[in-house]
Amino acid sequence: RKKVTIQTLQAFRQSKTPISMLTAYDYPSALACSSSLLTDIILVGDSLAQVCLGYTSTTQLTLSEMIHHARAAARGTAHPFLIADMPFGTYHTSVHDAVANAVRLVQEGRVEGVKLEGGREIADVVRRLTDIGIPVMAHVGLLPQRHCALSGYKVQGKSANAAKKVVMDALALEEAGAFAVVVEAVPLELGKYITDLLKVPTIGIGAGPHTSGQVLVYDDVMGTWSGHKAKFVRRFGNLKEVRDKAVQSYGEAVREGTFPDPQAESYTMDKIEWARFM
Ligand code: KIV
Ligand code: NA
Repeated sequence: RKKVTIQTLQAFRQSKTPISMLTAYDYPSALACSSSLLTDIILVGDSLAQVCLGYTSTTQLTLSEMIHHARAAARGTAHPFLIADMPFGTYHTSVHDAVANAVRLVQEGRVEGVKLEGGREIADVVRRLTDIGIPVMAHVGLLPQRHCALSGYKVQGKSANAAKKVVMDALALEEAGAFAVVVEAVPLELGKYITDLLKVPTIGIGAGPHTSGQVLVYDDVMGTWSGHKAKFVRRFGNLKEVRDKAVQSYGEAVREGTFPDPQAESYTMDKIEWARFM
């Protein structure tokens, strides 16, 4: 498949072809995401904080850690468009700092675009990055980087006023140049309303079936994540069961002495050489 571009994604938006996006965090997960021609976008999500590094929040993830993972994911990414989350704190201090950090993600992390959580308050950053040629995916609705300020991971835009705020944010970010907008954890009515209103694609996660595309966390899709399962998650595989069984079987075979097999899984010495050696 030809490399997916922003133009490809815009064409999908026009033809109402649902866009398929998945997170990946390293070389093997990016290879796995690339193995299906149906994957359009790979996101090195800052969910790597919890999923890969064992942190309790994305706010603990540093830019250096993100770059290290993005670089590995880039090596495994084939046709999908590759983006990475800008970690918490790396685009808030000034437009200048945001540009410097986004450039590091492109240069060292080798991603093609960046994703930023926030509304109107980050529109100037989104505009500047877009103006200098770094594609920006916006992220509205539930903003996990602000889970403390939001008192938890809750559905957003449930009241009329809250819904209006999410809509105004999405519009402002499109206006600022975002090439797509992730809409997280909002009622499906709002997911559809924003999708109909915007010209750029919306990528939903817990935003119902009417957005221009969907995104899920890799480990949720694989069924390897044993933590909390949100309502919007569907497990498409049960790799945890398969994986844990393999670990158990290996341990048993070692204990029983049935691994390795002396013929099939071991090397032998030439008999004459062995006699000389002895
Ligand atoms: O970090 C992440 O995994 C994300 C998405 C699931 C949208 O931001
Ligand atoms: Na994220």
